[in-house]
Amino acid sequence: MVDYERSKQSAEYILNATAKRPETAIILGSGLGGLVQEMEEAERFEYTSIPGFMKSTNEMHEGALYIGKLNGVMIAALAGRYHYYEGYSMGDAAFPVAVLAQMGIRKLIVTNAAGGINPDYYQGELVILKDHIKFFSDSPLRGNVDAPFGPKFFDMSDAYSGELREIAKECSRELGMEPHEGVYAWMPGPQYETPAEIRALAVLGADVVGMSTVPEVIMAAQCGIQTLGISCVTNMAAGLSKTKLTDEEVIETANRVKNQFAALVCRIVERIG
Ligand code: HPA
Repeated sequence: MVDYERSKQSAEYILNATAKRPETAIILGSGLGGLVQEMEEAERFEYTSIPGFMKSTNEMHEGALYIGKLNGVMIAALAGRYHYYEGYSMGDAAFPVAVLAQMGIRKLIVTNAAGGINPDYYQGELVILKDHIKFFSDSPLRGNVDAPFGPKFFDMSDAYSGELREIAKECSRELGMEPHEGVYAWMPGPQYETPAEIRALAVLGADVVGMSTVPEVIMAAQCGIQTLGISCVTNMAAGLSKTKLTDEEVIETANRVKNQFAALVCRIVERIG
């Protein structure tokens, strides 16, 4: 469940504190946090200073909202997100997107680190998401009986906007990459998956696997926000690589490709802003 009044309170606080009115937002996943350094005239809001926001416990992430220009386009950037594995509910994980919606955001780019399931993928590849699978938890909107954010029952068939995906693929090719479109499987974590779970997810049609993004995308879909998802394949998923899967590997790959990831996101922002 996502608290409408609380998200409204957070959004009003932010809108009162700045004259900037971004319509595009980015959620920065592992490794991409540095993108905020490239923003101009950025105003920074520590999550803990925003009424209604919670503190992120994940040390990989910073926990602040930035509003400023990226390549000349006014954006809001969320550095730090709430994960289910940290003990937050699915609704908590979706909460920042509810705030963005109340701030007037119309387009959202969601980024993450993920394990590669599709054998055609390589470590360090940037995959454009076309859909997701989430079987193992409730919806972030479970319990929102009055459906204050949008339709109570809503379509998810273009939750990963076809229009934005085309733009992302063009931008990716312009940067010399060969983009894949893939299906993201959401898993609760914090443990990485077992090899048997990965084999099962492959049968179900998943191409990458991760522990974030999906609650945010569901929230955005209900709010009618056009959304693009991009995964950085930081590792091959459990059972697909000979080496043991570690957090260090995930961080190392995310750091290795962060400039390329940032370049892609900047180019897409320029095109859609
Ligand atoms: N599984 C789940 N989440 C992840 C992975 C993975 O292999 N890599 C990065 N985030």
